[in-house]
Amino acid sequence: MNFSIAKIIRFPSYCFWHLCARAQFAVRGVKWPQHLTVKGPLGLSAIGRIELGDHITIVNDSKYNRAGINHSTQLVAGRGAILKIGNNVGMSGASIYAESSIEIGNHVLLGANARIYDTDFHPLHFQDRMAGVPPKTAPVVIGDHVWLAANVTVLKGVNIGARSVIAAGSVVTSNIPEDCLAGGIPARVIRKITENDLHKHFDSNLDNTS
Ligand SMILES: CC(C)(COP(=O)(O)OP(=O)(O)OC[C@H]1O[C@@H](n2cnc3c(N)ncnc32)[C@H](O)[C@@H]1OP(=O)(O)O)[C@@H](O)C(=O)NCCC(=O)NCCS
Repeated sequence: MNFSIAKIIRFPSYCFWHLCARAQFAVRGVKWPQHLTVKGPLGLSAIGRIELGDHITIVNDSKYNRAGINHSTQLVAGRGAILKIGNNVGMSGASIYAESSIEIGNHVLLGANARIYDTDFHPLHFQDRMAGVPPKTAPVVIGDHVWLAANVTVLKGVNIGARSVIAAGSVVTSNIPEDCLAGGIPARVIRKITENDLHKHFDSNLDNTS
């Protein structure tokens, strides 16, 4: 009941942000996908190409997701770059910055403040920075059904295999295979995710009550 009242109260703001996002997509020449939900102010910069699949939810304000979003989602494709996002993807306060190529599969969950960069933004040596030498860039691929927990950063050249989960706060600097739980800085494979993990939370709840 309370949930419904909250939804009714928020309905005008959903409409407002939806219209703002529609205008941004039109101005930036990005195709509006089917069933895109945008809550809060979105940052969109498409000098390159941005392609979004269907059924995408983008949350940009902590009042719509209490997990602790600290900035609005930023979707950026620089000159000649492509940022491609599949179907049924959800993100909250993500920063996805493509200078070369970032490909995100279907059914991917990006937890609060996930960052995905295919560029270092600046070169390592100060003389190169002074001289305006371009930074290293390398494509990033995030497989289907991947879940990045809150505050995960994925760096250039990384490929995360399908169905893998990256634990909260991790920094992923090298490839992660399919069906793995990985975590830490730098992220390492912790273990395989197997059939034994299915419904595991029910077991934990039972343990607590026993
Ligand atoms: C991914 C996650 C759900 C895995 O939980 P889990 O299956 O219960 O895993 P466990 O807690 O049993 O941890 C397994 C191992 O990974 C380690 N680990 C867990 N989280 C870690 C992290 N963030 N960084 C590094 N290592 C981590 C544990 O220490 C443990 O190591 P051990 O076997 O040596 O003791 C959990 O780590 C996580 O990130 N939860 C937060 C989810 C989140 O951010 N949600 C909000 C946004 S959607």
